[in-house]
Amino acid sequence: MDNFGEILIKWYQDNKRDLPWRRTKNPYLIWISEIILQQTRVAQGYDYYQRFVKRFPDVFSLAAADEDEVMKYWQGLGYYSRARNLHAAARSMAGAGGFPKTYKEVLALKGVGEYTAAAICSFAYGMPYAVVDGNVYRVLSRWLGIETPIDSAEGKRIFAEVAAELLDKAQPGIYNQAIMDFGALQCTPASPNCMFCPFVDTCVARQKGVVDTLPVKQHK
Ligand code: ADE
Repeated sequence: MDNFGEILIKWYQDNKRDLPWRRTKNPYLIWISEIILQQTRVAQGYDYYQRFVKRFPDVFSLAAADEDEVMKYWQGLGYYSRARNLHAAARSMAGAGGFPKTYKEVLALKGVGEYTAAAICSFAYGMPYAVVDGNVYRVLSRWLGIETPIDSAEGKRIFAEVAAELLDKAQPGIYNQAIMDFGALQCTPASPNCMFCPFVDTCVARQKGVVDTLPVKQHK
């Protein structure tokens, strides 16, 4: 598994999407983008992100805003608890002097789970936390041929372990972006582009002919 990350990052350099939240290391901006992208696709979230950060460029401007105005900027995105949590978290951060600097404090923010904390801390601070989401489950289950259900306790443990092991600790932010894009663009849920995949010769699911059955879920 030595050069998984190297091959993945090479693929990313050739195929990456140029997205505004990738051109910054500002944790506030990355946080906003990740909350939007939790339940919204990039194509839809893009304009919302641009409008939101133009009006609320930092923690303090968001904290100072009325909730009604924050909700107005979220109108149409759905899952409105995200916006209420953002606002509440901004107020608590503003009271504490700004965006937190440790993984533990980032994870404690309202609306931030392990995935989002890993994304923020790796992109903004270069901390070695691996993101684990649907894309990552799909890529790793296929490449390694892991048939343990991703929604079982054992599956969660195995994938977290493998994800942490494969993470490129020297460039965790780039690696995490790369695996997200690889899952979104190349190793897609239906009809993945195996013919033009850099892992075509090392992918266990491909060798076994089970690409379409992975990842396994016990509860549909
Ligand atoms: N989905 C979740 N986070 C993302 C990111 N940073 N870039 C692209 N898609 C994403």
